[in-house]
Amino acid sequence: MKVLVIGSGGREHAICWKIAQSPKVEKVFCAPGNGGIEIEDKCSNVNITDMDGLMDLALEEKIDLTVVGPEVPLTEGIVDKFKDRGLSIFGPSSRAAMLEGSKIYSKNFMKKYGIKTAEYAVFDQIDKALGYIGICSYPVVVKADGLAAGKGVFICQNYREAKSALEDLMIRNVFKGAGKKVVIEEFLQGVEASILTITDGNTIVPFISSKDHKQIYDGGVGPNTGGMGAVAPNPYCSEKVLEDFAKNIMEPTLRGIQQENLDYTGIIFFGIMITKKGVYLLEYNVRMGDPETQAVLPLMKSDFVDLIQAALSKRLLSFKLEWRKGACCCVVAASKGYPAKYETGFEIEGLKKENKIFAAGVKKENGIFKTSGGRVLVTYGIGGNLEEAIECAYENLKRVSFNGMYFRKDIGK
Ligand code: AMP
Ligand code: GLY
Repeated sequence: MKVLVIGSGGREHAICWKIAQSPKVEKVFCAPGNGGIEIEDKCSNVNITDMDGLMDLALEEKIDLTVVGPEVPLTEGIVDKFKDRGLSIFGPSSRAAMLEGSKIYSKNFMKKYGIKTAEYAVFDQIDKALGYIGICSYPVVVKADGLAAGKGVFICQNYREAKSALEDLMIRNVFKGAGKKVVIEEFLQGVEASILTITDGNTIVPFISSKDHKQIYDGGVGPNTGGMGAVAPNPYCSEKVLEDFAKNIMEPTLRGIQQENLDYTGIIFFGIMITKKGVYLLEYNVRMGDPETQAVLPLMKSDFVDLIQAALSKRLLSFKLEWRKGACCCVVAASKGYPAKYETGFEIEGLKKENKIFAAGVKKENGIFKTSGGRVLVTYGIGGNLEEAIECAYENLKRVSFNGMYFRKDIGK
């Protein structure tokens, strides 16, 4: 098989790495990929990002399967387009991708199908939104309706902060239209978990649970980032939590997908909050998480291509998805200054397969790996338990270096 993976981050490197392990796979193309992905056998980058170009590539190269990493092409309808041309592609239709693409759509969906989520109100007029934040209790959460690369959520402690968030979204239009409409919701106190699942529209199967570390500094302080590291399984996901999640969130989601007639063969990533009052759903993502994928896929024993093919042919119910025992930890090495301003172009030493690396903001120039982004790479470690996995991930990180390399020292701790 020839497989095309769309995207360029650490998540896509992990997806390519896992897909390339399938004995069925002869070649993996990553579009546009990054400088580090080609350390994997069978994997090469192709420098294409536009949808028509990707479709031409898939037709010319006779690609047997396309896997989409990020949300933007999914909401823009890449799956619908590929299918129209008879190409096999794994992911939700654009209508189904609204579960991530519009917070208003997803909150209304949750409400309609009885899925436990924070109380909320929707606004498309600033004066009404301002009226609401004058009477609501605090903290309150203000969210842009549309996609904002993970930056469209504001936790506001008081009226002044909520007003400033609303003005950024609805007047200053900082997310170019994504914040014209907003959701204002109840703040939930608890611990978060990321649960990736796979669905074929008839069945939904959870992966091993995971935990992201969103803030830049140790102890979970400082501004939010794209994620500074992850562990799997998530130590807070007890049997009881997972049962609550399956019964009250995952299963009603599948019922909703069926009743709304959403064409969904792909990953559903549930961002949940574990509270004293049970498990709440914060959000849906219609793709795998980054960096959760880099901690989850190393634990997957089954052949990922077999799993995806089972979903595409609606055979998930009889697929035996197997996981390795133990745990995995991945730690992000970022450029100094990230998530604000940072410099790039520094040489990276130690970017080798044996150091267990997934590359993200990496380019290759004249045979030399250099930094090209905020989150540069992750190293991962697998262990019999979480402590061992953490130790192993940090051991691997010691073998990698670049000017200004920054990482959290408390991933999984
Ligand atoms: P979302 O994109 O909706 O998952 O929001 C991004 C992040 O904001 C989440 O991962 C949480 O850390 C936080 N968040 C979102 N909604 C809430 C809420 N209702 N209560 C507390 N934290 C929230
Ligand atoms: N790690 C969170 C996300 O991928 O959205």
